[in-house]
Amino acid sequence: MSTPLLQILDVTAGFGATTVLHGVSIDVPEGSIAGIFGLNGAGKSVTLKTVAGVVPARSGQVLLDGEDITRWGPEKRVARGMGHIPQGRQVFPELTVEENLRLGAYTLRRRDRSRYAASLDAVYDRFPVLRERRSQLAGTMSGGQQASLCVGRALINQPRLVLVDEPSAGLSPVAALELREVLRDVAATGVTMVLVEQNIAFGLSLVDTAHLMQTGTVVHSSPVGDLDDATLATHLGIGSVLGAATSRMLSSRATPEPPKKGKPRVRRTA
Ligand SMILES: Nc1ncnc2c1ncn2[C@@H]1O[C@H](COP(=O)(O)OP(=O)(O)O)[C@@H](O)[C@H]1O
Ligand SMILES: [Mg+2]
Repeated sequence: MSTPLLQILDVTAGFGATTVLHGVSIDVPEGSIAGIFGLNGAGKSVTLKTVAGVVPARSGQVLLDGEDITRWGPEKRVARGMGHIPQGRQVFPELTVEENLRLGAYTLRRRDRSRYAASLDAVYDRFPVLRERRSQLAGTMSGGQQASLCVGRALINQPRLVLVDEPSAGLSPVAALELREVLRDVAATGVTMVLVEQNIAFGLSLVDTAHLMQTGTVVHSSPVGDLDDATLATHLGIGSVLGAATSRMLSSRATPEPPKKGKPRVRRTA
């Protein structure tokens, strides 16, 4: 098997005397979307931050394409193809759309100005609404438009790996569906993603693998098709009843049972 694009190997991290991550390990194959799910405070955002280099790993390793980047600063990680869309859509509200994109492209502009111009154009092609509103103050746009701006700001560096922290939070259902299409499009261009979501149904509709976190450790990892209601309910500690939308999404994505040997297969007509 080829080396996963991202490997989080037994990472611990914390703040002061508090340890938050107690040895997190997650492999993310190139071209896939990995989902991290867990209750509030489980350590999902801190995990993404150790990958982005915003929170240092105290032990363990983060490997990008097999290279140990554990001690790299965030800027070097961005320059090497990592994009981070932090929780809470942190656009600069008093800056225009284009100024926000320019700031996102800080490292790219320093390295290669002509590539920046082409990349800005590519982001505007993907998000015509951002081109239309390039001079508008970001803080005056709708939640969905700000979400597009955050994705655009990450894409402008032409990343290979994008970390997305709760992109659907606070969006209207319609805006969330639009955002889902955007993220699918991005993944379809071959960009690898790590997605953290509180909205489990939304997250499950996007990801290839599911990693369930509880109090700073990964308690379950599997392809999303092998995840069942009971596993999800047990590890997310939400009792035995999942929301109907989550259950529906799980069964729609379930890997079909292999046909049993010896029995004639019955073709189901819908
Ligand atoms: N900057 C920080 N300083 C101290 N504790 C923090 C900090 N950031 C997160 N934590 C703690 O780490 C734990 C995990 O947080 P986080 O990763 O943000 O959870 P979530 O899974 O909801 O994203 C929580 O108990 C949180 O209070
Ligand atoms: Mg979080």
